[in-house]
Formats: sequence, C-alpha cells, structure tokens
Amino acid sequence: MEYKVKDISLAPKGKLMVEWAEQHMPVLRHIRQKYSEEKPLKGIKIAACMHVTKETAVLMLTLRDAGAEVALSASNPLSTQDPVAAYLATEGISIFAWRGMKEDEYFEAIARAASIGPNITMDDGGDLTVMIHKLAHGITEGIDYRIGKEFLSSDIAKGIYGGTEETTTGVIRLKALEKDGKLLYPVIAVNDSKTKYMFDNRYGTGQSSLDGILRATNILFAGKNVVVAGYGWVGRGIAWRAKGLGARVLVVEPDPIKALEAYYDGFYVSDMSTAAELGDVFITATGNRDVIRTEHFLKMKSGAILANAGHFNVEISVADLEKIAVSKRKINENVEEYLLPNNRRLYLIAEGRLVNLAAAEGHPSEVMDLSFGNQALAVKTLLKKHVSLRPKVYRLPGSIDRKIAYIKLKALGVKIEKLTPEQKKYLESWSS
Ligand code: ADE
Repeated sequence: MEYKVKDISLAPKGKLMVEWAEQHMPVLRHIRQKYSEEKPLKGIKIAACMHVTKETAVLMLTLRDAGAEVALSASNPLSTQDPVAAYLATEGISIFAWRGMKEDEYFEAIARAASIGPNITMDDGGDLTVMIHKLAHGITEGIDYRIGKEFLSSDIAKGIYGGTEETTTGVIRLKALEKDGKLLYPVIAVNDSKTKYMFDNRYGTGQSSLDGILRATNILFAGKNVVVAGYGWVGRGIAWRAKGLGARVLVVEPDPIKALEAYYDGFYVSDMSTAAELGDVFITATGNRDVIRTEHFLKMKSGAILANAGHFNVEISVADLEKIAVSKRKINENVEEYLLPNNRRLYLIAEGRLVNLAAAEGHPSEVMDLSFGNQALAVKTLLKKHVSLRPKVYRLPGSIDRKIAYIKLKALGVKIEKLTPEQKKYLESWSS
C-alpha cells in the first residue's frame, strides 16, 4: 500500500468528515454491511479516479470491506478534501491525491493508481479510462504515462474485466471510444441510471454549485440576473435553485427542445451574446468548450461573476480571459479579478474549474448515496456478468435502479403505494 497526500496528520479530521457522510448515506451503509459479510470482491483490484471527498471515502471503504484492493487518484486537481485523503491512507487505501495538484502530478497520480493492475476501473470524467486506452492503442501524445522515471505498462487493459463511469462528460468520451471501435472492455455508465442523473445531476449540482459561488463570494442571489448555460439535468437543477433564491434566470441552450422546455419552465431564453450584456452571474453547465469567450467577456457588466459547473475547465475560456485582461489579482482563495481594457472587472471563481467541488464540498452526502449505491452495485454486476459482456457502454438494469430507490425510500421512512393484483393485470392487458 502506497500513498501521497498533503498531510497525513489530518487523518483524524478526515475520519470525522467520513463518519458524518456515512450517517447520511443509508443505501451505501446497507450495501457495506452486506458486502462486509459476503466479501463479493475478494481478490479483486480496483483502480479509481474520483473526486476525493468524504462521500467517495465511504464508497472506497465499502469496496475495501467487500474484499477488494483499492487504489484511488483524484479526478480533478482542485477537488480533493485533504483530511479525507489522509484518512483513507490510514485505512489501507492506496491514495494519490492532494488539493492543488499540478497538471503533471495529476496525471502521474492516475498512472500510479492504474499501476496496481486493476480488474475494474472506476472513473469520474474518463481520464483514467482514456489513459489506459491511449496506452493500449500506442497513442503517446497529450499525456505523460511516467511514474517517476518508469513508464506505466501498456498491458494494463488486458487484466481489466470492466469499468464504471460516474459522469455525463465521461460517458460522452466512452461513447466516442465505442463508436471508433477502440473501447477495450465493457463499461457501465452509472451516470445513466435514473437514481443517478435525476438526483445527483439535478439536485446535487443544482444546490452545490450555488453553494460554491456563495462560499467564494457571499453575494445575495435575490434580484440578480443569473445566466445558466446548458439546460440538461445539471442546468435545470441550477436554474431552479437560483430561481428559488430569488434570482431572475436566463437560460442559454442550443438544443431547441431543451430551450423550449426552459421557456415553458418560466425562464428567459436567449443566445449568449444577448445574455452577456444582462448577466450578473454566469454559470456554465454544457459539457462543451468556449461557451463564454472573448466576444462575451467584452460585453459583460463590470462586476459580473463567472463560474463553471461542468466537469472540465473548458467551458469558460480562461485562455481568452488571460489574453484580453490588462491585469489580474486574487481576491480570495477562490476568486480572481480580471481587469479588461474597457475598464470593467470580471470575477472568475475557482479558475473556471467545477465550482461545486473546488469552492464547496461537492454534492451533499444524501445524493451521493444514490450515485455511489449505483457504483457499488455496478462493480458487482461487472464481476458477475463480464464474461458475457462486449466492449460496449452499458446501463444498469432498471431492477437495480428500483432497488436503490426502494432502499432509500425505506431509510427515509416513506411508504409507497402497492398495486393490487387486479391493477397490475389491468395495466398489462390490452383488451380491458
Ligand atoms: N461529484 C459531485 N459531488 C461529489 C461528491 N460529494 N463526492 C464525489 N464526487 C462528487
């Protein structure tokens, strides 16, 4: 077992954080207890590239208690909770993560986790999976595969039964790999379970992105013009929560159906060029690049705040901002002020990296409980089924989705209606 964390003496603080999270994660608690007894992952190696948070820690400990050997690296240079990383290192997890990693350290950490020779990969955003696939396909540009002076073996993919992917952006990359005929093993898109995207993406990101902006700026949302770019599950969540705080919400969305939905949900809808002049706060949630760029920055009001809720820091073009700015200064740990040639000042949160994890604590434990319940069950499904699965992107079956919802409802003390045999028959019949 190896580790590289910021400060191992933070472990006792991390332990308290993880215990707090676990108290709010009844689905994962249920699975952890069952797996601890049955040890379904005995002898299995798992390499994970996930945000190192208190909730992820509960998942990693569940996998460990199920019998797996686990290695974990961060899935974003700014999202690691250092006390949690320290605690995991004291709990037998090989971990390579600290907040503020540099780009080369970030990829080296992923390579270190991959070097255990996993049977299962668990990814959030696709960086681990893409690294393994680039290596296997002999693509050397873009990523450094070295750990110190040693190169990571290009044979890693050969030992992998399958993988899981947590997020929309990662699933998009996997589907592109599959379409190119380059995907080497089956991957379960955990993101595509209903008990994941309807809750984590919508309520989780909706609340935690605003939480990040509030912790960084302490602004009043009431009365602000908030521009939300993207009206997928994440954008919807952000728009509704911003409205709930009293903001006027303007949605920018290129898909005509989603744009119409935003319109009938009661939001203003426009292009970014128009929105740029009106917004006080801009939040991107598109999964695409350069959604806000020079032509928009130059139209913005002085004082406008820019935050990104998408996985990668490509949605707000920081390169453009750096190019046009006359000067910049740090206002606090997570806010940078850019002075533009038109004498206006723009405020960028967390370097344009995902604001909920970089400036706050990510999604609340209650929603990660559902997401990570899916992860744990996806790992078990892969072990059971991998021989018959092809190198494709799969979803978990609806029965697992419903099982997770049932466990959560039970823990919440919610009793739901049961259909009578006559009602079931009625719904299945075409003639009555
Ligand atoms: N993604 C968003 N929020 C998260 C959290 N709290 N833990 C792990 N991954 C996350």
